[in-house]
Amino acid sequence: MDEHKGRLRASELEDSGDVGVNPTHNLTMGEIIATRFNRRDLLRGSLAVAAISATVGHRALAANEQPAKKASNPISFDFKEIEAGVDHTHHMAEGYDAQVLLRWGDPLFPDAPEFDPMKQTADAQARQFGYNTDFIGFIPINGSADHGLLVANHEYTNEELMFPGVGVQDSKDANFSKMTPDLVAIEIAAHGGAVVEIRRVDGKWQVVRNSKYNRRITADTPMEITGPAAGHDRMKTSADSSGRSVRGMLNNCAGGVTPWGTWLSCEENFNGYFWGKLSDDHPEAKNYKRYGIGTPAYAWGKFHDRFDLAKEPNEPNRFGWVVEIDPFDPNFVPKKRTALGRTKHEGAAGITNSDGRYVVYLGDDERFDYVYKFVTAGKVDPQNRAANFGLLDEGILYVAKYNPDGTGTWLPMVHGQGPLTEANGFRSQADVLIETRRAADLLGATKMDRPEDIEANPQTNRVYVMLTNNTRRKEDQVDAANPRANNAFGHIVEMMPEGDNHAATAFTWEVLVKCGDPSVAAVGATFSSETTKNGWFGMPDNCAIDSQGRLWISTDGNNAKATGRADGLWALETEGERRGTSKHFFRVPVGGELCGPFFTPNDESLFLAVQHPGEAEEGTTSTFEQPITRWPDFKDGMPTRPSVLVITKQGGGKIA
Ligand code: FEO
Ligand code: CA
Ligand code: CA
Repeated sequence: MDEHKGRLRASELEDSGDVGVNPTHNLTMGEIIATRFNRRDLLRGSLAVAAISATVGHRALAANEQPAKKASNPISFDFKEIEAGVDHTHHMAEGYDAQVLLRWGDPLFPDAPEFDPMKQTADAQARQFGYNTDFIGFIPINGSADHGLLVANHEYTNEELMFPGVGVQDSKDANFSKMTPDLVAIEIAAHGGAVVEIRRVDGKWQVVRNSKYNRRITADTPMEITGPAAGHDRMKTSADSSGRSVRGMLNNCAGGVTPWGTWLSCEENFNGYFWGKLSDDHPEAKNYKRYGIGTPAYAWGKFHDRFDLAKEPNEPNRFGWVVEIDPFDPNFVPKKRTALGRTKHEGAAGITNSDGRYVVYLGDDERFDYVYKFVTAGKVDPQNRAANFGLLDEGILYVAKYNPDGTGTWLPMVHGQGPLTEANGFRSQADVLIETRRAADLLGATKMDRPEDIEANPQTNRVYVMLTNNTRRKEDQVDAANPRANNAFGHIVEMMPEGDNHAATAFTWEVLVKCGDPSVAAVGATFSSETTKNGWFGMPDNCAIDSQGRLWISTDGNNAKATGRADGLWALETEGERRGTSKHFFRVPVGGELCGPFFTPNDESLFLAVQHPGEAEEGTTSTFEQPITRWPDFKDGMPTRPSVLVITKQGGGKIA
């Protein structure tokens, strides 16, 4: 295609800026320190503090901070912390087992072929576990913590690690010359998600291969568009004159599980699948620019008209949604719930409000994008499961504004209110939802440092927002909720809904922790002084709150160069004097990020997804033939395989 000037690697999609071009990587620790130290206004104070901190090796304190008092409340987390670091395999706290439950290519049906990396086909892949799981949910069967449905997203594919003979793609090879229609068909089948029945027998988890529930959803599975944007002209294509029927879900990152037992799967970097550029005067040109459409990371548009804007200019409007799936019905047509807005959705974790309404918290993972929530109009009916299936089609979407004084407001995104009128190009609620980002811009929402997972703690009603990083924030763009320029390591914001009412439009908030190495003054990290050199982390991404109300955080972006440690799982104290103390529980093999995490209701099993193990880190190359790790099989000829692990305590009991 003529307009097609370059390409992104799939792994660069998350780091691409809001115009989807010119991807840059996070600065290394050395670079950020150098940058900060070069700033004139920091010179004297910070260098002095840094020198002290380097000498005595304790946490550096900002001028206005007091040393943390010795904590007197008990430690919530009992496990023995692991060493931070990077190598070819995973590591976990002593006394725990990590079982590889599902690997890319594992057969999910009685008739599914065993994985053969040299004989991959799309048909086989569509009957096997897909690639790069981000979200995992566990939905109990009959209330059991040892028997249920695992729901897993398959976010994206790494062609250089999956396929023989492809190698590292040249970023100037805009035509994806190594990619064939057959390889693209395998990629399409490796995207989407999976429902897998699993059961714990004699302490070990097993996949039930002949389950009636097992299902693969791909980037080609027929889906229904529901809610206010369904049927709108902007949602229609030559294949779908109704604007209500779409094939597939793309780049499904995190998600959620509803109290009525459905799986919410979130389309994130959908922009990377579309080829071509619209002329500047095309009605969708500004819309697509805001979502970074125009620099593809995949070859799909070369072989499939619907991924080519020149042929199907409306197709991208049909992606970027939260998809609801009933895992108990393998014939259920997944529903794209447009009322929850169109963004690069990270996740969709929710909580039932005290009045029975369901509230879903939503992060839009891009630099300077926003935090949202959706409040249903109706109430959850615990007695009648079927009655809940329309709940996510009616309600109000809000976007967050954080004030410098620690208060905040949820701004309603309702057509006709404030600037969301025809004068600004919004003719209906459908327009507001299709262009959620532009609507939020006009409302004056607070531009955040890449909002990832957001989880509400049902025991305290406090809400935790993972802000993974934003190295493009300049000094003059710093605000109270995003307090660091060149924010390489991210931070976590804690929100308190007014009156513990998640439907309220007012809230208060504070920064729970600024991440990074607390022993380097210029980083400005604020972990408690009890946090060890292994206990701190950078780049919070996914999170979970266990049934004891404790917060666990998984990361994306740590590596040897950035933080001297692989990504992994950390347990973070949120209460009492130990608040801000973090402990390292698990780490992934080189090249991977850690996703999930998700606990069974009894906290005895913890599901973790190792996403893109063996993906090249800066200064390395990694391919199918010569991967930087062959985790988890470590067999010659077997590529590295993204996998879901389940962690249990040796001898049984809760994860401590
Ligand atoms: Fe796919 Fe925002 O992580
Ligand atoms: Ca993520
Ligand atoms: Ca991420």
